[in-house]
Amino acid sequence: MKTQLAVIVAMAENRVIGRDGTLPWHLSADLKRFRAITTGHWIVMGRKTYESIGRPLPNRTTVVISRQTDYAPPGVLVAGSLAAALEMAADQERVFVVGGEQIYRQALPLASTIYLTRVQATVAGDRFFPAWDSAAWRVVQQSDHSADEKNDYPSSFEVLERVCQPEEPDETSVVSNPFSHRS
Ligand SMILES: NC(=O)c1ccc[n+]([C@@H]2O[C@H](COP(=O)([O-])OP(=O)(O)OC[C@H]3O[C@@H](n4cnc5c(N)ncnc54)[C@H](OP(=O)(O)O)[C@@H]3O)[C@@H](O)[C@H]2O)c1
Repeated sequence: MKTQLAVIVAMAENRVIGRDGTLPWHLSADLKRFRAITTGHWIVMGRKTYESIGRPLPNRTTVVISRQTDYAPPGVLVAGSLAAALEMAADQERVFVVGGEQIYRQALPLASTIYLTRVQATVAGDRFFPAWDSAAWRVVQQSDHSADEKNDYPSSFEVLERVCQPEEPDETSVVSNPFSHRS
């Protein structure tokens, strides 16, 4: 079985995804979407995103990526690299990379799906989602959501599928590539 990598992110019009270690908005509909999509699956995140959430999310297996060899918060798995995290999840049909910026940058070239929430606002922030080649992706689902008392901004929920195969991870990686040589 080949594990598919999906990225899930909420991004403002200026590509902002975070500010001061947290989300720069409250979007209840987006949190519900995140829960519905990721529940029952493995989620992979950077150490800073994990600390901003502060706990393992229920009904998911959480893998936290850190270079700290003694990092071991309870209730999560810790991996020393994205490749190591994906190796741990190699028996999963699909894994979700859930941020933040550092991990998205490493994961996007390997991803076959992006669950994107376009936050329809320009928002001040210090973390950004990387640009992607729009010719390499097509939007297969889209729905709009209004702002209201539980949602700071209007947003658009999109699912993007990669038109061609994602890149293979770097073969010089110290950990074997879970995406190759699987049938
Ligand atoms: N809008 C969204 O959808 C969304 C989603 C998630 C997060 N965010 C936001 O994004 C921000 C956090 O993003 P960030 O870029 O600062 O941090 P991050 O990607 O969450 O975590 C960075 C940490 O991951 C570890 N790491 C990164 N690359 C590694 C590698 N190759 N090998 C081993 N460990 C590695 C390092 O941990 P150590 O320092 O422990 O070694 C690094 O400090 C927050 O503001 C958060 O709210 C937004």
